[in-house]
Amino acid sequence: MNNASSAGSKTARRDFFKKALAAMIGTILGLVPAVAGLTVFFDPLRRKAATGGAIRVTTLEAVPADGVPRKFPVLATRVDVWNKFSETPIGAVYLRRTGDDKLQALNVVCPHAGCFVDFLPERGRFLCPCHNSTFTLAGRIDDPASPAPRGLDALEVEVRAGKEVWVKFRNFQAGRAEKIPVA
Ligand code: FES
Repeated sequence: MNNASSAGSKTARRDFFKKALAAMIGTILGLVPAVAGLTVFFDPLRRKAATGGAIRVTTLEAVPADGVPRKFPVLATRVDVWNKFSETPIGAVYLRRTGDDKLQALNVVCPHAGCFVDFLPERGRFLCPCHNSTFTLAGRIDDPASPAPRGLDALEVEVRAGKEVWVKFRNFQAGRAEKIPVA
């Protein structure tokens, strides 16, 4: 083999490897968004509560007729791409009768920093055990020294078919004077 043909074949080999490398890089770059998309699609943590609106919480007869608030868990179906989790707790509400078939629903989460408030029947008040915010029966701030920036979060509630209690359950950002839903 003479020098000229040897140099030519080296150049051809270099070209071949350059093209192969470019094709490989192109393929890898093309796969990145596809893999990222699949990861998002199959991520089991991307579960969402299948709420989309009101959730049946309890029956009207389970809410004390004397106007004393009672705490109820809020259960919802959660789904991801692989599984469906029926009746998973997503929060809790205090329900109180304000009339024969009229109710008030308050989220149990304290708007200061997110602790669960207790109802104290002897005082007719809600108390947050974390930093002592107190709230009236209607959910308004009771003691002005309470660190909570707003009252307890009222939720939409309705009685359906004369006996089922449905609540539009939402959580709201803690530490804010405004009521901003958590996405
Ligand atoms: S979390 Fe309720 S007062 Fe701080």
